[in-house]
Amino acid sequence: MAKMEVKTSLLDNMIGVGDMVLLEPLNEETVINNLKKRFDHNEIYTYIGSVVISVNPYRSLPIYSPEKVEDYRNRNFYELSPHIFALSDEAYRSLRDQDKDQCILITGESGAGKTEASKLVMSYVAAVCGKGAEVNQVKEQLLQSNPVLEAFGNAKTVRNDNSSRFGKYMDIEFDFKGDPLGGVISNYLLEKSRVVKQPRGERNFHVFYQLLSGASEELLNKLKLERDFSRYNYLSLDSAKVNGVDDAANFRTVRNAMQIVGFMDHEVESVLEVVAAVLKLGNIEFKPESRVNGLDESKIKDKNELKEICELTGIDQSVLERAFSFRTVEAKQEKVSTTLNVAQAYYARDALAKNLYSRLFSWLVNRINESIKAQTKVRKKVMGVLDIYGFEIFEDNSFEQFIINYCNEKLQQIFIELTLKEEQEEYIREDIEWTHIEYFNNAIICDLIENNTNGILAMLDEECLRPGTVTDETFLEKLNQVCATHQHFESRMSKCSRFLNDTSLPHSCFRIQHYAGKVLYQVEGFVDKNNDLLYRDLSQAMWKAGHALIKSLFPEGNPAKINLKRPPTAGSQFKASVATLMKNLQTKNPNYIRCIKPNDKKAARIFNEGLVCHQVRYLGLLENVRVRRAGYAFRQAYEPCLERYKMLCKQTWPHWKGPARAGVEVLFNELEIPVEEYSFGRSKIFIRNPRTLFKLEDLRKQRLEDLATLIQKIYRGWKCRTHFLLMRKSQIVIAAWYRRYAQQKRYQQIKSSTLVIQSYIRGWKARKILRELKHQKRCEEAATTIAAYWHGTQARRELKRLKEEARRKHAVAVIWAYWLGLKVRREYRKFFRANAGKKIYEFTLQRIVQKYFLEMKNKVPSLSPIDKNWPSRPYLFLDSTHKELKRIFHLWRCKKYRDQFTDQQKLIYEEKLEASELFKDKKALYPSSVGQPFQGPYLEINKNPKYKKLKDAIEEKIIIAEVVNKINRANGKSTSRIFLLTNNNLLLADQKSGQIKSEVPLVDVTKVSMSSQNDGFFAVHLKEGSEAASKGDFLFSSDHLIEMATKLYRTTLSQTRQKLNIEISDEFLVQFRQDKVCVKFIQGNQKNGSVPTCKRKNNRLLEVAVP
Ligand SMILES: Nc1ncnc2c1ncn2[C@@H]1O[C@H](COP(=O)(O)OP(=O)(O)OP(=O)(O)O)[C@@H](O)[C@H]1O
Ligand SMILES: [Mg+2]
Repeated sequence: MAKMEVKTSLLDNMIGVGDMVLLEPLNEETVINNLKKRFDHNEIYTYIGSVVISVNPYRSLPIYSPEKVEDYRNRNFYELSPHIFALSDEAYRSLRDQDKDQCILITGESGAGKTEASKLVMSYVAAVCGKGAEVNQVKEQLLQSNPVLEAFGNAKTVRNDNSSRFGKYMDIEFDFKGDPLGGVISNYLLEKSRVVKQPRGERNFHVFYQLLSGASEELLNKLKLERDFSRYNYLSLDSAKVNGVDDAANFRTVRNAMQIVGFMDHEVESVLEVVAAVLKLGNIEFKPESRVNGLDESKIKDKNELKEICELTGIDQSVLERAFSFRTVEAKQEKVSTTLNVAQAYYARDALAKNLYSRLFSWLVNRINESIKAQTKVRKKVMGVLDIYGFEIFEDNSFEQFIINYCNEKLQQIFIELTLKEEQEEYIREDIEWTHIEYFNNAIICDLIENNTNGILAMLDEECLRPGTVTDETFLEKLNQVCATHQHFESRMSKCSRFLNDTSLPHSCFRIQHYAGKVLYQVEGFVDKNNDLLYRDLSQAMWKAGHALIKSLFPEGNPAKINLKRPPTAGSQFKASVATLMKNLQTKNPNYIRCIKPNDKKAARIFNEGLVCHQVRYLGLLENVRVRRAGYAFRQAYEPCLERYKMLCKQTWPHWKGPARAGVEVLFNELEIPVEEYSFGRSKIFIRNPRTLFKLEDLRKQRLEDLATLIQKIYRGWKCRTHFLLMRKSQIVIAAWYRRYAQQKRYQQIKSSTLVIQSYIRGWKARKILRELKHQKRCEEAATTIAAYWHGTQARRELKRLKEEARRKHAVAVIWAYWLGLKVRREYRKFFRANAGKKIYEFTLQRIVQKYFLEMKNKVPSLSPIDKNWPSRPYLFLDSTHKELKRIFHLWRCKKYRDQFTDQQKLIYEEKLEASELFKDKKALYPSSVGQPFQGPYLEINKNPKYKKLKDAIEEKIIIAEVVNKINRANGKSTSRIFLLTNNNLLLADQKSGQIKSEVPLVDVTKVSMSSQNDGFFAVHLKEGSEAASKGDFLFSSDHLIEMATKLYRTTLSQTRQKLNIEISDEFLVQFRQDKVCVKFIQGNQKNGSVPTCKRKNNRLLEVAVP
């Protein structure tokens, strides 16, 4: 979907003023306040016309998202709030559409955000320019060159954790469509002194720390390095770690970037080897050694490090060792070799390290250029991005700071020139009169430094090339002579008496008043650094290295190409390259980004007004605004101006038909803006004072509010009318529907009322007829009733008459009967008195007896012999009859009961009866036996195979077979025996074997004795002299004593016809062999439970204790 075009302006929702040209009043304070206000609201960008002022936020802001890129894409510069993207877009579009080469000049002091700004510009351009696989690769390579160069060329300084220690200018090349083709990078003077020494709180270049932290163990071993920073003299330790920087991760990023840029693996390896060699060079130490000729010679303390460096670089160890000990000076055909003392050896070592590193850096830039250079030969459009080290003022400022500040001086100059030029050009273009503006032109400072005859750089070169002893002091002296009168040069020793007593100016220093402030330079080292000498022995040693990269870095070491001419000094080289750069920049359309550092603490949200004020001053921002205003504070093309303010005038609102300029004229006339407040250019209107613009803005705001009210009014009117019409339409519809409904309802009502009335009338008529019919009917019924009553009356009258007649007849008959009875009674009275009394008595008696028997029949009790019930006697005179009848009835029901018995039952009852006769009320054991059935053979001898022999030995019927305890005659203890009673014999057998122990014919049994108590002891007395009685009488105990005794009695009686004597006594005599022993039953204690115990007390007494 096409993005909705919202016409806006940077004037909308402005915080402070977005373009400082509009500041009113304009002075340093308002400028700073405006920057602060905007900074506090996260508006870090502010314009001065087309220049972007950027205040470093020191924290990431959400203003660089892809959405933001889209917002700023193809928008006019002033359309949205100030942003670096707006400038990038403007530059890119004029490059693409107007074919103008562009350059983006980013200036500001160290840490102000130049490098970040340059990256933002590049990423914006990359995001908006063409797409496609090839184009994307070019973009990616261009972007990825940054991390590589930053790793090797940036370092942590006290001002900036990622300070660029080299100047960089990058030309990005585009084709006619605006697609990137490639690029060229130029680098300016790397601060190589950092390789061997870093000021306090600063670090060496990032790459050393990244390599040691991020390389794998394997790589470190290969490079003969150790991970420990403290092992290397060239690495400062006090700030080896930078907060928020992950060196190891950055190492991976750098390697990845190198790969994307197009470095081959072996190239990366070589680069790292050189880095390792530089690190290790720092660890070579020297000691003095006296020689015969009295001169001191330096010797390497520990050759191990040297050996490793040589292995790494493929240099012959002896060659390198010699190069550290001797210096060969060649002049024409002569060759003089001198020994180096320790200090010279260290100097040589450091010079080698610095040269190795700085040449490696240049090689890297060239190598990147090789990768990113445009492949086609077509004409290219160029956008140059300049990110050069910022203006620096340190405590100790040396040659490097001098060079850096010179470069910044040049940039400031070009800025002044170009801004003024552009402004002037615009006025000419627009045909507006130009008014002169006062501003500080730093050309004079540039001249002090670069003048070919008496400039400081020229003087330094002169000193360096001069024969004789040359020192930094001689150089300073020279300066003191030549520059003494220069306004911007200050030195204690100069001829100018102004500084003779200036104690802030040490003797070994000179001071320059730069555009950005005064800087005190220590003269020490200027000559050396400018000479940038590397002993030829060392460059030759390097050239001899087996390492291809190192060899290529020192072409002057090739003996075949010995050049006795001195190489150009560092100063002159730099001057030349800056001059080229300036020339290059002047051919391009400049775009400025001026970076401001809000505080010295690298901290977010802190705005140090003093610091900013200083920068505002030396950046000449105020002059910049003044120049920009040059009489006219604001300018705008006619079209957008008319579009923005057309609502302020009736003729131009809402549409202006004619040309925009005419429209603006009409508009300004109508608004009665004083004529001196504006001028009409060719394509733009120029407004003199910001207050006029703000008045216009206020009017616009007011008018917009009025318009909004008007729109609101019309809209509300329209809305209400539409609503009303809708309501009316709805009302008509509803009314129509309602009427129809009401009519229908009324019709229904009338219809139903008619029906009701109709039905009432019909009902009334019907009822009337009914009433008539009923009357008629009642009349008929009344006639019938009257007739009936009449008939009734007649009938009753007849009945009465008949009844009267019948009564009379009955009375006659009764009277007749009475009379007849009287006659009969008189006849039979005599006969009745003689018999009637006796007969009535008998009859009555008979009746009573009959009644008694009939009643008794119904009252007879149950047939159970044990039922004791008998009805009470009804008449006293029947008392004996009643008792007799009870007896007869009992006998009869007993008989009836007995008749039910089988023979077997009879036998059992006979036995039970026998037992009752024998023991009832005599032995305490008896009652418990009544309920027990008499079973006789308890032991089933027939069935138990154990007793087969016993069974075979007995032929007769077994009456009792039961286990009894036989009491031992001697000690009263008991043994189990089978007690068998047959028809004729009494047998005792062993319980286990079934063997017969004794056999007594029943005829020999004379008596059975037992106690009266509740025990089962009994004695069987035998006939004296019989065979069985030889051992004496038996004494047993059994649970079935009653049954056994009864059965023994009955069997003896039936077999011998003699009644067996049964003695029940608690003391009786038994015959044991020859002794008569008394068996005595005593009431025993409960010790043995409920079992009676038997004990032979002595010869005469056997005691049975019954519980
Ligand atoms: N636009 C920005 N948004 C967020 N942080 C920024 C921005 N610009 C700069 N910074 C922060 O400030 C630090 C310093 O910025 P930068 O390295 O660009 O400074 P410089 O001007 O290039 O300094 P030098 O001259 O020392 O190279 C950055 O590392 C970054 O943390
Ligand atoms: Mg930088």
